[in-house]
Amino acid sequence: MVVLGIETTCDETAAAVVERRDDGIGRILSDIVLSQTDEHAAFGGVVPEIAARAHVEALDRVVAAAIAKAGCGWDAIDGVAAAAGPGLIGGVIVGLTTAKAIALVRAKPLIAVNHLEAHALTARLTDATPFPYCLFLASGGHTQIVAVRGVGDYLRLGTTVDDAIGEAFDKTAKLLGLGYPGGPEVEKAAQRGDPQKFALPRPMLGRNDADFSLSGLKTAVRLEAEKIAPLSEQDICDLCASFQQAVVDVVRDRLRAGLRLFRERCGAPTALVAAGGVAANQALRAMLERIAVQAGTELVVPPARLCTDNGAMIAWAGAERLALGLTDPLEFAPRARWPLAELRR
Ligand code: KG4
Ligand code: ZN
Repeated sequence: MVVLGIETTCDETAAAVVERRDDGIGRILSDIVLSQTDEHAAFGGVVPEIAARAHVEALDRVVAAAIAKAGCGWDAIDGVAAAAGPGLIGGVIVGLTTAKAIALVRAKPLIAVNHLEAHALTARLTDATPFPYCLFLASGGHTQIVAVRGVGDYLRLGTTVDDAIGEAFDKTAKLLGLGYPGGPEVEKAAQRGDPQKFALPRPMLGRNDADFSLSGLKTAVRLEAEKIAPLSEQDICDLCASFQQAVVDVVRDRLRAGLRLFRERCGAPTALVAAGGVAANQALRAMLERIAVQAGTELVVPPARLCTDNGAMIAWAGAERLALGLTDPLEFAPRARWPLAELRR
C-alpha cells in the first residue's frame, strides 16, 4: 500500500510518499519539507495569514517533487492523505482541499488525518513499535501524554492547562532576546549556564494527575530577568540553564505520573515514545532515557526530522488507516480543533 501525505497545519509545507507492507513494515519513498521559518522569523512566531499564503504558493511544487522523488508514478498511489486538523485553519484548508482535488481527479480514496494521530503513529513507521505504548508529545502547539492503544484508539492521560512546552521555550527565548525558533537557542545558551543559579518554580510537581502548567515558569524567568537587568551574556545563559532544568524536572515528574496512570489503565507499555520538536532537546532526552529504564520499558525517539512536522507521518497515518479500510468522504471539513479522544476507527 502506497500513500501520498500532505502536511500544512503550521509553518511547514510538506508532502511525502510512504509504503506500508502487509506485515506493517513502513518505508519512506520520498519526504519533502519546505520550512517557512525565514518568513516568520522577523515576527518571533508563526503568523497564520503569512503561513496560509505560503502554503498556497508552495504546495503544488512540493507535491510534484514528492511524487517525482518517489519514482513510482501516480498509478502506484493507493490513497491521498492530508492533515485535516488540528492546526492553523488557513493552512489546513489549503492542504486538505489540495488532497481532495487530487483524490477526485486521480480517483483515489481520501484519508483525512488527525495531525496528532500522525505524530502518535510515527514510531511504528520508524521502529515498528507495537501497541500499546506511552506517547510523550511535546511541540510548539501541543504537550500531551497519551496511551496509544491502536489506530484511532487513544487515551489522553495528561495535557497542558496553559502553554505548550515548545511555546514556553519560544517565549523564554523571545524575552531574553534570543532568536526564533527559541528551543534550540535556549538549549545552546543553557550549555554555558548554571542550572542552579535561579530558583524557578516547578509547577504541578507531585500531583496525582499527569497534567502540565508552563506559563508560570516563563513569567518567573521574566521577573528574574527584570530584577537583574541589564542582562550580561552569562546572565542569559544562567537563566536559560535554570529554565531548562525546571522543564526537565517538571517533565520527569509528570511523565512518571503518566506512566503510572498508563499501567493502571492499559497494563505495561511496550515503549515510551517521544515526538514533537521539543524531543530534539538533549537534556530532556537524557532524562527520558532514565525514566524509561526506571519504568522497565525502552525509549523510542524517531529521528529529529520525523519528530518535527513532516509529510511522511501524515502519509504513514493515512496508510495505517487505509490498511483498516478507513477512508473519508470528500465533504470532510477541515478542523482547527480536533482532540485525539474524538477519533474513531
Ligand atoms: O513539532 P514542531 O516542529 O512544530 C510544532 O509545533 O508542531 O515543534 C517546534 C517546537 C518549537 O517550539 C521549538 O522551539 C521546539 O519545538 N524545539 C525545541 C528544540 N528544538 C525545537 N525545544 C527545546 N529544545 C530544542 N532543542
Ligand atoms: Zn506537529
